[in-house]
Amino acid sequence: MKNIFTKNVAFGFSLLLLFLINSVNAQTIAENGMVVSDNVIASQVGVDILKKGGNAVDAVIATAFALEVTHPEAGNIGGGGFMVFMKSTGDVTTFDFREKAPLAASPTMFLDEKGKIKDNSNHKGLLAVGVPGTVAGLYQAHQKYGKLPWADLVRPSVDLAKKGFTMTYGLYNAAVRVSDNDPSEDIMKNYFRGENGEIVKPGETWKQPALAKTLEQIEIHGRDGFYKGVVAQEIEDYMKANGGIITKEDLEKYEAVEREPVQGTFNGYDIYSMPPPSSGGVALIEMMNLMEEANITEIEFNSTAYVHLVAEAMRRAFADRAEHLGDPDFNPEMPLDKLLSKDFAKKRFENLDLNKASISDPAQYGHPYGGDHTTHFSVVDKDGNAISMTYTLENSYGVKMGSDKLGFIFNNEMGDFNPVPGQTTSTGQIGSDPNLVAPEKRMLSSMTPTIVAKDGKPYLVIGSPGGRTIINTVFQTVLNVLAYDMRIDRAIEAMKIHHQWLPDMILYEHNLLSPDTRDALQKMGHTLRPTTNIGVLMGITYDASTKLYTGASDSSSEDGGARGY
Ligand code: GLY
Repeated sequence: MKNIFTKNVAFGFSLLLLFLINSVNAQTIAENGMVVSDNVIASQVGVDILKKGGNAVDAVIATAFALEVTHPEAGNIGGGGFMVFMKSTGDVTTFDFREKAPLAASPTMFLDEKGKIKDNSNHKGLLAVGVPGTVAGLYQAHQKYGKLPWADLVRPSVDLAKKGFTMTYGLYNAAVRVSDNDPSEDIMKNYFRGENGEIVKPGETWKQPALAKTLEQIEIHGRDGFYKGVVAQEIEDYMKANGGIITKEDLEKYEAVEREPVQGTFNGYDIYSMPPPSSGGVALIEMMNLMEEANITEIEFNSTAYVHLVAEAMRRAFADRAEHLGDPDFNPEMPLDKLLSKDFAKKRFENLDLNKASISDPAQYGHPYGGDHTTHFSVVDKDGNAISMTYTLENSYGVKMGSDKLGFIFNNEMGDFNPVPGQTTSTGQIGSDPNLVAPEKRMLSSMTPTIVAKDGKPYLVIGSPGGRTIINTVFQTVLNVLAYDMRIDRAIEAMKIHHQWLPDMILYEHNLLSPDTRDALQKMGHTLRPTTNIGVLMGITYDASTKLYTGASDSSSEDGGARGY
């Protein structure tokens, strides 16, 4: 009796403690499972699935569909992405559901007679749309690893779309921007409007009946609810009527792929991330190897030496990315083992001058910053399964086009291919072969969903949106936790820089890098440019001694948040 009483009091006390900690910190703590995403409603949908007995895979699927409804600028069924899954056994696998170029695509499809990109057509209009992969990827992961019935995972999102949810200030601001400022007569004009024709205001309920019907098809028919039947037919009809080239055949042929992760180490931690067609994992591991080589733990965080070394690592990894990486199905000779090796990191740092910036030479190998509207979420469950998933529409609200009958927006991911064969410029356009357009090829991505393990158990589950900045924000957050022992919320908020080889400059978060450090970096030959914020990270850490999960969402995510139980 006494024991039970003591145990209950202790349990009650620990719950109270958890509640207090949760109430006063930028981090959320939970014992059994957690979802951290760009939208708290979607995080709660995922946690409800965990509470119902679902595993991390089930929760990820339910969260992904909920984000399509509640975070439409990046949450999607019209785009694609990547999932890194560490099972409770310590085994790691990944799912690649990156969009593909349609069958009618070609390397010069975006060029005019003079060989220049025509009307920004790799980003604007339906030629910019890649064959979506999200539904196929989620379905394949469910077939192999899910526990709860598929329909149970889609239903919460059908309900959210049908019955609606409360419009937030963050979403409303975006709604005004895309509804009023976009000249397109397409889906965006009416996307956020209620029955009275007005944009739904903060505090009012926003319903999406057309999207609810599309999601119902997916709920009932699984993968086929998107890639066959009435939804596929409407996609083809809409494409034909508006200058697009995606057909029912493209949709029917789309397959997600389960792939081995890329793997590296840093000071005894194991790092697992996404292999090509994402460049994220390879570049992350190359940079972590370079940091190990540079003994970064001996260097003060945010000092001149720190920023210099981090920027030089980024410069090198992005040059290697540009030269070598693309869809593995089209580039079987990619030197992944070499790029991931400690020896390569040693060689790559041989020409690094600790007092002087290196030079990025476009004659040797860049890319503009790219689309920043991608979204990341991290999930853990009570059995120790962990998932890091990033998916995207490329730009915010993708191509800003889609059928009113289907209620979702298409990606403009074709912009992630190298648009002009052979042309690499100092302003950042890349023309290297591995990532030229080809029918059914996947465009190179920067998404970096990552899991760091300690003793075979997940230690850090992390990722971010942000185009090419993704790789660097994930890199610096992993470094903050592993090398500088920062707790997750602080690691996420700490100063970030971005260098991507070309253009040759360091983007830095202003107010977070001292004027003295900036002067010193300029004297070393670096060009600096301030920006307000880099990255929107969503992370979870696990403390094996307390057996508690700690989650944090980046404060730059207006509607984001961690939910646990
Ligand atoms: N669309 C952003 C990326 O895949 O990197």
